[in-house]
Amino acid sequence: MFSLKKLSPTITDMIRFDHSHVLVTFHQYTADAKPKVKQALADTICNALEIHATLEEEIFYPAMRGIDSGEPVLQKSVPEHNEMRRLIGELRATEPGDVRHGQILHQLMRDVIHHVADEETVLLPHAERLLGKDRLSELGAEMTRRRLELAGPKAGKLAMDTAIGFSGSTTALVLGVVGTVAAATLLTRKAKAA
Ligand SMILES: [Fe+2]
Ligand SMILES: [Fe+2]
Repeated sequence: MFSLKKLSPTITDMIRFDHSHVLVTFHQYTADAKPKVKQALADTICNALEIHATLEEEIFYPAMRGIDSGEPVLQKSVPEHNEMRRLIGELRATEPGDVRHGQILHQLMRDVIHHVADEETVLLPHAERLLGKDRLSELGAEMTRRRLELAGPKAGKLAMDTAIGFSGSTTALVLGVVGTVAAATLLTRKAKAA
C-alpha cells in the first residue's frame, strides 16, 4: 500500500526549508523598493510566519515535549512566536510608504533570525538524534497535510504576493518556490488517489 510517510521529507528538513524561504523573502525588502513590492513582501513574510508557527506549535513542539520537555529553547519558543505575532499585527497596521514599516519589518527580521538560530542549532539536531528517520518523515507528512489545510484557502494570494515581491529578483528563485508548493500538492494528491 502507498505510504505518504515513506516519501515525505522529514519534518526537520521542512522546517529548515521554511526558514530559508522566509529569510530570502526578508532579503528582498530594500529601502528603495516600491510600496507595492514592500507590501507584497511583508504579506508573504507575515503569512509564511503564521503558518510556520502554527505548524510547529501543533506538530513539532508537542513531539519534542514528548522526548525532552525541559529543554530551555523549547520552553521559550511559544512566547517568542507570540512576540512575532504581535509584531506581525503592527506591521499589518502600517502602510508600506511609512518609515515605520521598514523599522517594524527589521525588528521582526532580527527576532526571526535569533529564533531560527536557536531552532536550527539546538532543537532540530536534538530531534534528529532522538526521533528516528521514520518518525521524522511521518511528522513531515503530517505537517504537509496540515499546511495544505492552512495555506489552501490563501493559495492564490500567496502566489500573487510571491510573484510581486520577487518581481525584481531572479526568476529561478520564484520557480523554485512555486515548484516546491506544486510538488507538495502533487504528493498529497497521489497519496489520496492510492
Ligand atoms: Fe519556531
Ligand atoms: Fe521555525
